[in-house]
Amino acid sequence: MSTPTNTPNKTPCYSPGLDGIPVAESAISRVDGAIGTLEYRGIDIEALASQSSFEETMVLLLNGELPNKEALQAFKNGLNNHRRIKFRVSDIMKSFPESAHPMDALQACIAVLGMFYPLQRTLSSDPLTEEQIQVACFRLIGKLPTLVAAHARMRLGDDPIPPRDDLSQAGNFLYMLFGNEPSALTTRIMDVALIVHAEHTINASTFSTMVTASTMADPYTCISAAIGALSGPLHGGANEDVLKMLDEIGHVDQVESYLENKLSKHEKIPGLGHRIYKTKDPRAVLLQRLYHDLTQEMGEDSTYAIARRIEELSLGTLGAKGICPNVDFYSGIVYRKIGISTDLFTPIFAIARVVGWLAHWKESLSESRIYRPRQIYIGEVNRPYIPLNKRM
Ligand code: COA
Repeated sequence: MSTPTNTPNKTPCYSPGLDGIPVAESAISRVDGAIGTLEYRGIDIEALASQSSFEETMVLLLNGELPNKEALQAFKNGLNNHRRIKFRVSDIMKSFPESAHPMDALQACIAVLGMFYPLQRTLSSDPLTEEQIQVACFRLIGKLPTLVAAHARMRLGDDPIPPRDDLSQAGNFLYMLFGNEPSALTTRIMDVALIVHAEHTINASTFSTMVTASTMADPYTCISAAIGALSGPLHGGANEDVLKMLDEIGHVDQVESYLENKLSKHEKIPGLGHRIYKTKDPRAVLLQRLYHDLTQEMGEDSTYAIARRIEELSLGTLGAKGICPNVDFYSGIVYRKIGISTDLFTPIFAIARVVGWLAHWKESLSESRIYRPRQIYIGEVNRPYIPLNKRM
């Protein structure tokens, strides 16, 4: 065997997971991982979570500015016009296996939408018009909650519930899921949960959107790629794993031995750790606050006590390495408290994050360079071809 003679020096070029490598310029969001802050278009997430609505935040992320009253109403009208799904899309959903994970169902449905709403361009490489971009954003943001709720009901044998124009994105999703109008508190909790999940710089799913967009693929294909990336347990899927872990632990007294056992086997604890944050994720702080708000109406439960104990005990060991609760650690506890089943946690993440994905998609449209990273080839070279009858 011979090895390549032109292998470049590995050290300066190769960064596993692209750790620390800038892949784009962006003006959408900013994270300071050392002090644990997150800003959307320069505005702190804490201010948005306490004073804004998901609708206002969506406009901010997509267009760069908070809307005035007229612009906000126009945005809400745009969403309302695109929330419904065609009966043929529902029919396709009916044929999914009952065991289908809602993230897989969502990814498939978004790819299907692309067939129903093809982009009219003379040449497929022609730039999209402003109107085409805006309508694609309304369609994707408007339809995602409808698709998630419809699939959740259909797999239980229930009819999907059509969207209501008088409800917010958060309230309408809960209404379509449960069939009754949610309380003001529950709506506000979901609204804030959607705000804090809406955008988070260039992570795996956002990067998937950007890579796919760089080929000039249509926005439905870009978002379906992003949903696939989000479904993984190291990304959005971690919120589901957190709840499975809390259920497995079962009692606050079992936390210590559970952690010891996991860490002795070098296994990761879901919901802890982040590539960028080396302190507690500010979104985890906000979600924990939401849980406390909910307990005013609904009382505390044992799952939260287990999570708190994990945070407390891991502080000394993992905390010293900068591994602290991330966004997924408390989100599932909040969702379960309002009656949402575990496998819908990541689809809810997608309902929020589609806004960030689309903001990056829009931003990337002015950048016409296809992503094409380099590899460092470490295989053999110049090998002779051995005919089949001569191979051992
Ligand atoms: N539990 C225990 N140890 C953890 C850990 C966790 N959740 N996350 C990271 N570590 C440890 C690693 O084992 C490694 O230890 P070592 O240096 O002794 O080998 C070190 O911390 C660095 O971990 P690494 O996986 O290289 O960090 P990363 O930046 O590549 O990964 C995550 C970040 C998010 C993928 C990782 O923290 C993780 O898998 N977390 C759990 C899944 C999760 O919650 N994902 C949602 C993220 S929002």
